[in-house]
Amino acid sequence: MKFFIDTANLKDIREAQDLGILDGVTTNPSLMAKQKISGKDRVMQHYKAICDSVDGDVSAEVIATTFHEIIAEGEELAEIDDKIVVKVPMIKDGIKAINYFSEKGIKTNCTLIFSAGQALLAAKAGATYVSPFIGRLDDISVDGIALIEQIALIYRNYSYSTQILAASIRHPMHIIQCAEVGADVMTGPLSVINALFSHPLTDLGLAKFLADHKEAAVK
Ligand code: G3P
Repeated sequence: MKFFIDTANLKDIREAQDLGILDGVTTNPSLMAKQKISGKDRVMQHYKAICDSVDGDVSAEVIATTFHEIIAEGEELAEIDDKIVVKVPMIKDGIKAINYFSEKGIKTNCTLIFSAGQALLAAKAGATYVSPFIGRLDDISVDGIALIEQIALIYRNYSYSTQILAASIRHPMHIIQCAEVGADVMTGPLSVINALFSHPLTDLGLAKFLADHKEAAVK
């Protein structure tokens, strides 16, 4: 399973990249706003800086919501760098735009996916990635992981090449469960990726190994 980091924070992206386990970055307008990135030039420069910081795909979301505007904005974003994946919302004009981008060879990520039917439409349009938001489903007492499993079954049945990018990851068990049910990619914040490292027995075991080594050296 590929690991993407879900942030527009360059420090976090570089820290995850340095770990050697990062495969890409996802952003959205809320994450860009959190970094106080606004205005077209600054937004474009920031995407370029993200692309320069990671070996892998970088999802950049359009703000436009009508077909022609999505096309114009997406084409501009795609020109920033080969790593850019144009992130498009799951609306009718978005699906039409994904179909257009797919024919042009521009990578896409269909976002705000909350049902298997939406994921099926995105695959039919030729999306490179589809982003089901599992945490936001869990928030309203709907099983987000079950949706990933359902989409994986449907894509397998028809050999769709669209990759399932599990988004809105809230805790390390989400990552494990995504891997169990066959998500192609998970995207989460650095804190959740870092949480995978932790186990008290690892800490205790390492402390004991180092103490025994020190004691043997003294004897
Ligand atoms: O990138 C979209 C998604 O990961 C959002 O996550 O935590 O705002 O639901 P969250």
